[in-house]
Amino acid sequence: MPKELNFKQELVGCFGFPVAENPTQAMIEPAFRAMGLDWRYLTLEVRPEDLPAAVAGARAFGFRGFNCTIPHKVEVIKHLDGLGESASLMGAVNCVVNREGRFIGENTDGKGFVSSFRELADPAGKSLVLLGAGGAARAIGVEMALAGCRSITLVNRSETRGRDLEELFSGPLRDAVRATGGPELEVNYICWKGDFEVPEGTEIVVNATSIGLFPDVDARIALSMDSISADMIVADVIPNPPETRLVREAREKGCRVIDGLGMLVAQGVIGIEYWTGRTPDAGVMRRGLEEVFA
Ligand SMILES: NC(=O)c1ccc[n+]([C@@H]2O[C@H](COP(=O)([O-])OP(=O)(O)OC[C@H]3O[C@@H](n4cnc5c(N)ncnc54)[C@H](OP(=O)(O)O)[C@@H]3O)[C@@H](O)[C@H]2O)c1
Repeated sequence: MPKELNFKQELVGCFGFPVAENPTQAMIEPAFRAMGLDWRYLTLEVRPEDLPAAVAGARAFGFRGFNCTIPHKVEVIKHLDGLGESASLMGAVNCVVNREGRFIGENTDGKGFVSSFRELADPAGKSLVLLGAGGAARAIGVEMALAGCRSITLVNRSETRGRDLEELFSGPLRDAVRATGGPELEVNYICWKGDFEVPEGTEIVVNATSIGLFPDVDARIALSMDSISADMIVADVIPNPPETRLVREAREKGCRVIDGLGMLVAQGVIGIEYWTGRTPDAGVMRRGLEEVFA
């Protein structure tokens, strides 16, 4: 019997502008190959004014889903057919999933963080210091609270952004946590001036700012390392380089650490699960990224 021929590949991808330096393809395509899936992940430059046409194109081509990165995470929402719970709370989508022809917006950034955090500990009942109030901080705060974190101390340089996030966390997010039967979420905001002293009793410290991202690899976070103790878990969202100055110094203090590559891989794993219904090999994905960052 001649083998049935099929040249039609399933498509997913990433819409962004600029997008050329986005490394996601380098972790997703090796994962597809290892799963024996003839799928492609396309890195697609989409200008803001072309986003409606790009989403319509994705529908026409039967895309199984796509990631959205800067500047499309909020704008894409009006072109979708629905939102998952945390994407709706955050007001931002980084992963669109084609569910029986309907494009549903999800946010996997914070879920990826929680998944890499769970490899070390359970977030339930823990106190978190979150540095930053941008998209990454928003995603991490929402998912850590939904996973049972007891308190979040938000620390941000610009007061407007800090207060905006405080409003979300102490309003709609607290209500969502209550609805899950979780603990009453404590939220407070501190305006970041000078070296921040981590309050005693803090169990988790997360850098969710862009400080330390390549090429500014020696940039120092205004944080008193004397206030970090060995019993804290310290995480950094910066994926490149994976070993940031914060990760290195926290490790030297004896802390358990989570690097930004762990979060990036974990959110990619969740994206593939949404698109294919199968779990990829995270090791293959991490090695794909390590090769491009080497
Ligand atoms: N590993 C992953 O999977 C993953 C996923 C998403 C994002 N990320 C990374 O997370 C980082 C943040 O992304 P984002 O989308 O949240 O960016 P964003 O929305 O632009 O927010 C940036 C945040 O960093 C703060 N910041 C920047 N420079 C600072 C400085 N010198 N001192 C104090 N605060 C400073 C900003 O504070 P102000 O409000 O005061 O400006 C803001 O809170 C990026 O580097 C991105 O690569 C990683």
